[in-house]
This record gives sequence, structure tokens and C-alpha cells, in this order.
Amino acid sequence: MRKKIVAGNWKMNKTLEEARTLTAEVMGMVADEVKGNAITILCVPFPYLVPLKNQLGNSSVKIGAQNCSEHDSGAYTGEVSALMLKSIDIPYVILGHSERRLYFGEDAKLLAKKVDKALAASLTPIFCCGEPLEIREAGTHEKLVKQQIEEALFHLSAEALQKIVIAYEPVWAIGTGKTATSQQAQEMHAVIRKHLASKYGAGVAETISILYGGSVKADNAKELFACPDVDGGLVGGASLKSREFVDIVKTM
Ligand code: PGA
Repeated sequence: MRKKIVAGNWKMNKTLEEARTLTAEVMGMVADEVKGNAITILCVPFPYLVPLKNQLGNSSVKIGAQNCSEHDSGAYTGEVSALMLKSIDIPYVILGHSERRLYFGEDAKLLAKKVDKALAASLTPIFCCGEPLEIREAGTHEKLVKQQIEEALFHLSAEALQKIVIAYEPVWAIGTGKTATSQQAQEMHAVIRKHLASKYGAGVAETISILYGGSVKADNAKELFACPDVDGGLVGGASLKSREFVDIVKTM
């Protein structure tokens, strides 16, 4: 059975004190209400990884980073490698978020390298894909998303691919309050799974968790997560409020 996952993407938000408070609230509520039904992950800014990981202790809530370098070490000022994340026991890392693609020029070639580094360090990449509005309007969104996946992931062995979580995040739905309809999400998730199956076989494709991201809220999560190919969500804005985030987790 595929894993159900709700991951919060805090982006560049919160002071340490606020981060500790949010973590404590999420931990408390998830323990009470979710009882291990879904994997809950908090993807937090680099400086908070160690303190929040320590705070989470044995909680069912896991921690993740939001990016890593394509290099192992060296003169890359300001960068953080997958090996560094591994050395502090971070299990998850978001890669290829549309904000990284847009503001930091991350392209498929670079992302393929980052995916390799993350896997080599035994991290689970949460690999993001998704089309901007003009591509959706032009009707070429399926083609683009298939290409994003092919270029960054299709060099992997089937065994390596099965260690990846994919997040489909239409760029027009991120932070805009415009969620994809459950039909739009299901259609694209099915396209992604079929594309994985075309390369790796249906058996492998069936094991990959594909999350939806883009203005997921407590009041739309239920319908989105009920789609057969939607295995959870990558949640931005709503992950910054404990009650809202845990309500999303609960819908799993
Ligand atoms: P949003 O962000 O939930 O605020 O739309 C999602 C994301 O960027 O991962």
C-alpha cells in the first residue's frame, strides 16, 4: 500500500520561538487525533532542523529540509549538502519546488543531480513538479509535467525511484487561494502515475506516493485526498497554523 503523507512546507517563515510553539502544538494534536494513520512531515528552514528534530523526539511527526545542494562539499558559500542533512539525521528533503525553479533558476539537469545526492545520502526526496498558468491555459500541462519528471527522475533505477515521493503542485495554485479541483488533481496524478508505469511498469508506479500541493486547506483536503491517485498533500500557507494543518492531517 502506498504511504499517505501530509508534509508542511514552512518556506522562509517563523522565528525559532514561533517555530517551537507551532511544532509543540502540531505534535500534541497529531498524537491525539491521528494515531499514525498518515506520515506527517514538517519541512522547516535549515537553522531549525536540529532544534525541532530534538523537540520532536520520538513523535510520529517527522522533519524535513526544503532544499539541498547538488554538491557533497566544498567552496559553495551558503549551501547545505545532502550529506550534512544525513549527518544530522534528517529523513526528508523537498527538491524542485517551483519557487526554487523560478527564483533560483533550478532546472531539470540540476534537479537530477540533487535527487541523486539526496538518494545517495539516504534522504527521501519530495520531488515537486507542476505547470505555470500559461501552460495550463495553453493545454500543454500534461506534456510539461511528464517532461519535468522524465528529465529529473527517469535516469533512476526502479529501486531508487521507489524511494521518491512526488508532489504535483500547479504553480497557479500555490499561495493564490486557487486550488485545483479534485478532478484536475486526479487527472494529473493519473497522468503522472501512467507515465511512471510506462517506464518502470505498473507495479512500481503503484507504489509511489503522489502528493497534491497548491492552496490545500482543511476544507478542501478531504475531497482532494479522496481521489484514488492523490496520496496526500504538500501544504504551504496552511501549515503555518497548527489547527488548520492538523485538520488537514486528520482528513487522511
Ligand atoms: P500553498 O503552498 O499551500 O501556500 O499554496 C504549497 C507549496 O508551495 O508547497
